[in-house]
Amino acid sequence: MSLDAAATKPHEQLATALADDLSAVNDMIRARMASEHAPRIPEVTAHLIEAGGKRLRPMLTLAAARMCGYDGPYHVHLAATVEFIHTATLLHDDVVDESKQRRGRPTANLLWDNTSSVLVGDYLFARSFQLMVETGSMRVLDILANASATIAEGEVLQLTAAADLATTEDIYLKVVRGKTAALFSAAMEVGGVIAGQDDTTVQALFDYGDALGIAFQIVDDLLDYGGTKAIGKNTGDDFRERKLTLPVIRAVAAADADERAFWERAIAKGRQEEGDLEHAMGLLSKHGTMESTRIDAIGWADKAKTSLDVIPDHPIKAMLVDLADYVVARIT
Ligand code: IPE
Ligand code: IPE
Ligand code: MG
Ligand code: MG
Repeated sequence: MSLDAAATKPHEQLATALADDLSAVNDMIRARMASEHAPRIPEVTAHLIEAGGKRLRPMLTLAAARMCGYDGPYHVHLAATVEFIHTATLLHDDVVDESKQRRGRPTANLLWDNTSSVLVGDYLFARSFQLMVETGSMRVLDILANASATIAEGEVLQLTAAADLATTEDIYLKVVRGKTAALFSAAMEVGGVIAGQDDTTVQALFDYGDALGIAFQIVDDLLDYGGTKAIGKNTGDDFRERKLTLPVIRAVAAADADERAFWERAIAKGRQEEGDLEHAMGLLSKHGTMESTRIDAIGWADKAKTSLDVIPDHPIKAMLVDLADYVVARIT
């Protein structure tokens, strides 16, 4: 690895290696977020899309396709599809989470309103389906349609598990696999499918995306209690929304009577008071659940890496391996 490469984050290395493809994806996103009839659509989408975002999921599609030797045009459509699905879910997610900040900017629901976010999110979902149809592959349609249903399922499962102190680690894993990992795994899988890979390779790509997505969301949940200002979105949202994320599930399991009463009041009943978030963070720290959760995330990142063992060596494969480590080390 050169000094330059050592100084660059793995997703930036991938962005450099895939620069031409990524710029074609960004052009396609810009072209397809337009609307002839409703100016509100490009206003809202431009606000969110021009703010950047890490473009992780489309990079996974491009990386999988290139690593598998694909040289046709459709990986670009698929990567744009994946980013549109992601953007649509973010618009909807910030409405249901009542979030005020995203990608370092005020959320669309704050700048416009919930209605605009929901309807423009629907528009982007529909646009994503138009894009994937253009590939002519029923198999990628199947994969991405299933992933879209699974994401929505994960969000709804999370909704019904919120405020429920009986939520288990198993339910948490189902939520995370659905709402986040499903799109990571589908993004990888369609890259391999479009490149005509065999079942073993496609399964390996899926497994990498699944484990990477789980690691990514576990870390996102840690960052929500991390107090860092650098992530470009609010922290403390999960506590306010009474979500049972992994560090909280473990702290509830280890609680003494007083602590249990605190979780009952703040999470189950939702009667939150000034200083509660800080108190909750103290309990996570007391029971070491931030650390134990991070160890789980590292385990998933390791699983992601070993999933790629069956793939022949390739410069992009090495970057995907580094990306798995970075996802757990990231602070933004
Ligand atoms: C945010 O994903 C949603 C989660 C699954 C936590 P990213 O952190 O990849 O969002 P952007 O696209 O970079 O803003
Ligand atoms: C992210 O959920 C998953 C989806 C957008 C479907 P979160 O609510 O945990 O993500 P952030 O923290 O708002 O990005
Ligand atoms: Mg959210
Ligand atoms: Mg959410």
